[in-house]
Amino acid sequence: MKKIQISPSILSADFSQLGNEIKKLEEGGADMIHVDVMDGHYVPNLTIGPPVIKSLRSHTSLKFDVHLMISPVHKYIQSYADAGADIITIHPEATDNLQNSIKKIKKLKKKLGISLNPETKTDIIKKFLDQIDLVLIMSVNPGFGGQKFMPEVLDKVKELKDLRDKQKLNFDIEIDGGINFENSKLAIKAGANILVSGTTIFKSNNGDIKKNIDLLKSI
Ligand code: DX5
Ligand code: ZN
Repeated sequence: MKKIQISPSILSADFSQLGNEIKKLEEGGADMIHVDVMDGHYVPNLTIGPPVIKSLRSHTSLKFDVHLMISPVHKYIQSYADAGADIITIHPEATDNLQNSIKKIKKLKKKLGISLNPETKTDIIKKFLDQIDLVLIMSVNPGFGGQKFMPEVLDKVKELKDLRDKQKLNFDIEIDGGINFENSKLAIKAGANILVSGTTIFKSNNGDIKKNIDLLKSI
């Protein structure tokens, strides 16, 4: 069983205090930092880009788990790698040649993630599984924090775990969107080993980040 890791999403953080917020996440026991990049085109929201990631880089030694909700994505991969991303996760619909984008991320020596929206089937990535370091299963439609968890995506988590075990691969399964203290257990049981959470970590228990991270990790 893979170690359960927590990747808090800074989308729910105070954007005027991002450096301090990231320090609080590290002190609270986060395993990595989930950075939601949105371009207002692939998703109907706009957040941060490479300059902000670059300025945050020195505030923590934790890995930046960068979720690129941007399209077209291929031509921007280099700038996120240069800004300090450690894991670069892209959506397959956002590139006109997934194999080229995979090659680009790996050539930059970054961990490669592929994200599946709730309605995207696993077929789109099956032939790439041996190249992938992480599959990010969206349990909400991308674009906003604070949305309701979509339990139907747990079948996809189970399917990917079975495929991974059958093919003796080792990619992580990360789940993202509406994760709380109840459904986190369902996600782990289904086979997810990295939980992304924004609202639950920043807003529950009067914003007690350490308590919220510990509660999410407890199975
Ligand atoms: C949504 C983002 C998620 C979201 C998670 O497009 O990819 O990472 O911020 O936030 P919560 O945990 O509030 O659903
Ligand atoms: Zn995300």
